[in-house]
Amino acid sequence: MHHFHYHNDELYCERVPLRELAARVGTPCYVYSHATLLHHFTVFDSAFEGVPHLTCFSVKANSNLAVLRLFGSLGGGVDIVSGGELYRARQAGIAPDKIVYSGVGKTLEEIDYALRENILMFNIESTQELEAINARAAAFGCRARIALRVNPDVDPNTHPYISTGMKKNKFGIEIDSAVKAYERARSLDHVEVVGVDCHIGSQLTEISPFVDALKRLRLLIEKLEAVGITIQYLDLGGGLGIVYDQEAPPEPREYARAILRELKGMHCTLIFEPGRVIVGNAGVLLARVLYTKRTQSKSFIITDTAMNDLIRPSLYGSYHQVQPLRRQSRESHIVDVVGPICESGDFIAKDRGLPMVESGDFLAVMSAGAYGFTMSSNYNSRPRAAEVLVKDDRYFVIRRRETWDDLIQCETIPAFLSSDKQ
Ligand code: LLP
Repeated sequence: MHHFHYHNDELYCERVPLRELAARVGTPCYVYSHATLLHHFTVFDSAFEGVPHLTCFSVKANSNLAVLRLFGSLGGGVDIVSGGELYRARQAGIAPDKIVYSGVGKTLEEIDYALRENILMFNIESTQELEAINARAAAFGCRARIALRVNPDVDPNTHPYISTGMKKNKFGIEIDSAVKAYERARSLDHVEVVGVDCHIGSQLTEISPFVDALKRLRLLIEKLEAVGITIQYLDLGGGLGIVYDQEAPPEPREYARAILRELKGMHCTLIFEPGRVIVGNAGVLLARVLYTKRTQSKSFIITDTAMNDLIRPSLYGSYHQVQPLRRQSRESHIVDVVGPICESGDFIAKDRGLPMVESGDFLAVMSAGAYGFTMSSNYNSRPRAAEVLVKDDRYFVIRRRETWDDLIQCETIPAFLSSDKQ
């Protein structure tokens, strides 16, 4: 469900006609619907109503301060994977006791920052990290609350790049060595064992991998209890998929039902780290058609948006629907929608049936709210796109478009190159 719909053949976000917005703010431009964000967060969170839980939105999916602030105002916490994400979360007003910190490679500087902020817990991914966090907490004279991220070795049946809970992946501690790692953690003076964590992958469209992982975690928690280690928080990560094309992912309510069934008789507070399912379909990327061209073998729509703005199609072969902002009864053609970047991998859509468009027309790349802007870059020295939040009939620029000056602001030419001599 989302709030992007046609009215009199014009694509609207809530009550804002996107063509008007594109003309005013310019393109490329990410547009998020406040109503959709609110709805998705509430649907997910309320699926666990009555059960002690915390919904920690995964910042990597969409890290705009306004978006984080909205979820914070709804009682949400966040899942972070870097010092930068912690900084963003704190700037957005997320309370430290609602922040969980995952990631295989936390630096000492990042660990210190999170200890100073006194976050809810570190999800630790290796025994060396455990020792490092213990040592840093000792230096601060505090105890770090920790969970171990366990790798349950289940196949999430998703794209290999975003599958994270199999033995061959770099994430977490092997489930078979987990009890030993927990015993080591218990013996350390400056960590307090509070949780078990796992995250098996992203864009999952079936419930069974979640349930399989949970069964294994439950067994682990029982084993830990048997050796006197009590688990207060069970963090099940994120991963619920969305509809980009023809997928049929489970609704949050079905997901919740399956999880709660598996957890009967357990008394942990649940933590979830959803990203995509909350923001994915709440955002679109607007683009303007620059040129069209037809070669002997193909037709191309060349837009002002490119792989630097949305890398998902190039990186994972992901499907994003492409829709015209003004629907006209024009003949359909098979086209590639491409950007101006100097790589053949720079495409938004391939071999897609689309109504003919002309230079100056606008397009919307749908389902771009997750891992869209956050994965964007300045490749080809392209300033990053603007981000806009729509609420009812109003819109707010929540990140201005970068300028050419922004592109070079961190760079310096050393003096030896600055002389006039050639
Ligand atoms: N928690 C952890 C520890 C994660 O690594 C992730 C995502 C999440 C939660 C949120 O997962 P979600 O609910 O959004 O599936 N760039 C890729 C997705 C990478 C996901 C990485 N981890 C894409 O564009 O599809």
